[in-house]
Amino acid sequence: MDKIRIVGGNRLEGVIPISGAKNAALPLIIASLLTDERLTLENMPRLRDVSLLTRILTNHGVDYSLNGKRPGEDHLAGQTIHLTAREIVDTRAPYELVSQMRASFWVIGPLLARCHEAKVSLPGGCAIGTRPVDLFISGLQALGAQIDIEAGYAVAKAPGGLVGARYVFPKVSVGATHTLMMAATLAKGETVLENAAREPEVVDLADCLIAMGANIEGAGTSTIRIEGVDRLHGATHRVVPDRIETGTYAMAVAMTGGDVTLTGTSPDLLSNALDVLAATGTTVEAGPDGIRIARGSQPLRPVDVVTEPFPGFPTDLQAQFMALMTRASGVSRITETIFENRFMHVAELSRLGARIAIDGRTAEVTGVDRLIGAPVMATDLRASVSLVIGGLAAEGETIVSRVYHLDRGFERLEEKLTRCGAIVERISGEGMR
Ligand code: EPZ
Repeated sequence: MDKIRIVGGNRLEGVIPISGAKNAALPLIIASLLTDERLTLENMPRLRDVSLLTRILTNHGVDYSLNGKRPGEDHLAGQTIHLTAREIVDTRAPYELVSQMRASFWVIGPLLARCHEAKVSLPGGCAIGTRPVDLFISGLQALGAQIDIEAGYAVAKAPGGLVGARYVFPKVSVGATHTLMMAATLAKGETVLENAAREPEVVDLADCLIAMGANIEGAGTSTIRIEGVDRLHGATHRVVPDRIETGTYAMAVAMTGGDVTLTGTSPDLLSNALDVLAATGTTVEAGPDGIRIARGSQPLRPVDVVTEPFPGFPTDLQAQFMALMTRASGVSRITETIFENRFMHVAELSRLGARIAIDGRTAEVTGVDRLIGAPVMATDLRASVSLVIGGLAAEGETIVSRVYHLDRGFERLEEKLTRCGAIVERISGEGMR
């Protein structure tokens, strides 16, 4: 298995291009199931999760092709993917596939909408929490689906097709909002989703569905109205920039000091997190070329954060911010409210010399003068990149193992950081023997 070796201490200087958002790319790929025409998605990040989901969809009958690098193209540019679900050949999603990629459970919405049936394995828990799917089930039932749980599968039927309804999410869920919005595009009549997720990725999916002929209003607010249509058609859509990748590199620069412009992204996608970063004393400037992040020799001020659904501070940046706060000049309190088990990075950051105490959902981080490199282990995607951020500021060598987590969601991380002066290299499994 590959590892990442980091020699800490270098400041980051230069430009980091931001890729398309993984968490928008995944529902967009799934939206291809809603039409028999071609869906073209531009600015697709080159990530393991994207290629895995695309391959999973071939099981349902989706054909796909990828445009590779073109002459003169910046090789960090995103790719274009064409997806066509001319005929759905299988409405089942087996456990072997769903357990590899939990977002593939979301196919239940488009399959029910287009084929009026689906049999999709329940995804089970994961490293960060139990992650139930009750809201998907109750929401689709509100749209008229009959759903039984049988031998680990959600067996769903809507013999006469889905019917629009009002559904109030008892809890904000990104995935359930994506799924119900996709399902409602082909339901009869109007659907009103209340207490819907407002994440930029929901807006991006809605924009794509609208380009495909859907009738959707209110995405980005907590009430989304969808008037069902008989069919959707092909479209071309550009994936929104990755706000979590943006925030991650912003925190890396704040951690090491330096001056970096993050291009191909927008501050509107993550205003709260940038406000928090500015409160640490880091310079955050939005300009025509992107977002400039800079920090000189001034100390990092401690800042308390509580993770919340958008537009609050994102859970997907909690681990990275905690890494940053390990070097603050004082005590910060970081409270995780979205997932019950998202502090797996604490023990690993402590191996670098961080002082962190957990009390229930809150981690109290006492800044230290120095971190010292050590071997650490990645446990999930965002936790693993927090270890990279720690390693960039630590003295000496940090080796992060289990980096397949990183490859799920960070496109060419080593290359992007190395271009800005960091010493980060991948050691292939072969090389470690
Ligand atoms: C999405 O997961 C993201 N994944 C996650 O990113 C992100 O952390 C999360 O949203 C929150 O922002 C993708 O977009 C692929 P939720 P999702 O449903 O949709 C509970 C990453 O690192 N819940 O908004 O699965 C759930 O357990 C990943 O890129 C129910 O109780 O998250 C959690 O506590 C990790 N019942 C809360 O809601 C349900 O039926 C929010 O989860 C559904 C969710």
